[in-house]
Amino acid sequence: MTDNRTGKTYEVPIEDGNVIRAAALREIKESAEDFGLMSYDPALVNTASCRSRVTFIDGDKGILRYRGYPIEQLAEKSNYLETAYLIVKGELPDRKHFAAWEQNIKIHTMVHESIKSFMDGFRYDAHPMGMLLGTVGAMSTFYPDAKNIFDLESRRLQTRRLIGKMPTVAAWAFRHSRGLPYVYPDNDLSYTGNFLSMLFKMTEIQYKPNPVLERALDILFILHADHEQNCSANAMRAVGSSHPDPYCATAAAIAALYGPLHGGANEAAIRMLMEIGSKDKIPAMIKDVKAGERLLQGFGHRIYKNYDPRAKILKKMAAEVFEVTGRNPLIDIAVELERIALEDEYFIKRKLYPNVDFYSGIIYQAMGFPMEMFPVLFAIPRTSGWLAQWAEMVRDPEQKIARPRQIYTGEVVRNWIPVNDRPAPTMREDAVSEAI
Ligand code: ACO
Repeated sequence: MTDNRTGKTYEVPIEDGNVIRAAALREIKESAEDFGLMSYDPALVNTASCRSRVTFIDGDKGILRYRGYPIEQLAEKSNYLETAYLIVKGELPDRKHFAAWEQNIKIHTMVHESIKSFMDGFRYDAHPMGMLLGTVGAMSTFYPDAKNIFDLESRRLQTRRLIGKMPTVAAWAFRHSRGLPYVYPDNDLSYTGNFLSMLFKMTEIQYKPNPVLERALDILFILHADHEQNCSANAMRAVGSSHPDPYCATAAAIAALYGPLHGGANEAAIRMLMEIGSKDKIPAMIKDVKAGERLLQGFGHRIYKNYDPRAKILKKMAAEVFEVTGRNPLIDIAVELERIALEDEYFIKRKLYPNVDFYSGIIYQAMGFPMEMFPVLFAIPRTSGWLAQWAEMVRDPEQKIARPRQIYTGEVVRNWIPVNDRPAPTMREDAVSEAI
């Protein structure tokens, strides 16, 4: 690299095929006292923040693999608990290890009775994602042993606890919002079957999940289990990097997932489809999107510049679910919207394709889930991904507390003025709220 300010040249090694270490830029200085160069990358669009062996994505080709296994094979042949084992432990389990893992997860499906009282304290109309976020954060206080994050056995225990308890807390958040009594776990059922039981059981002795819906939910869980360095995984790693217990870091990841640009996108997509209402209104919506007035929800992705492979699987799965639940009429609008968008120059030029959220909401809605539950349904399986990312971060000797640099753009230095001598404050464009 040549520094045009000084004419000096520097050798910056290229590692891993296309990577330079940002810290190497610090050697490039105008003078000895100089700070050195740094890179500016708002939203980290071109910065690798870690090495990871969990998930591979080729966004241009539309490829997603967990630990090397293509998502299509896992969605067709695996189940969520097996996939969670693969993600957390790196290998597929044999029969014996799967049985032990399933047992280890199931014995952690119960939660402390005080967590039940804690959840009871939320307002009657609390958003279930807010309840999940608060409750998982509160779980930190129930497991003080979880602070031993450098102890392998402790990490394994918290991983089993979190994967086991997440459906219980999620289902209870839903029951709370409906004013229904909480249903205790039934470990004779599968992971997803038990979740459906805790959601929908009424007065029957044992809830019998519909096998098609149980399998559909299991596939949805597989598809959502991890997605490398997305916003919530990055939150998990960033918060985890100051070494709190994994419940705190998971609560941070849930908070990141809550936003409409991440886990809230399928709700936004459903609302948009409902607003469109009929196929003849699609061109008007496309016009608004192209005018930059709004986003086409469930379209576009930071990494995929091709069809999201998860959306492909879900589009096909929708038909099977509808055979049981009845057809969600929004699917017709979605398919037509996709057809029109994919033929339009605006979307072609920007490589905007449907993402996982475009079809998942339609399926969840057909299965009877209210929209507020959509991000909660995302958080349950993503817990295995977050924990795998967190464990990698904890064990990585290159990682430190996450602490980016900034380019300071504020006042250089000002002298404090006694209150009686100050002019009235003026409104600044960077103020959070108006000066009073
Ligand atoms: N509708 C219309 N235009 C879009 C959309 C969209 N959904 N997404 C991106 N674009 C446009 C941008 O306006 C921009 O156009 P420009 O070059 O003329 O300015 C161009 O495409 C590039 O977009 P960026 O904003 O740079 O893409 P980025 O990688 O920052 O954003 C994101 C990715 C947040 C997913 C974005 O596509 C979006 O907001 N989509 C809608 C929300 C959504 O579906 N989120 C779910 C993501 S998947 C998940 O979390 C599971």
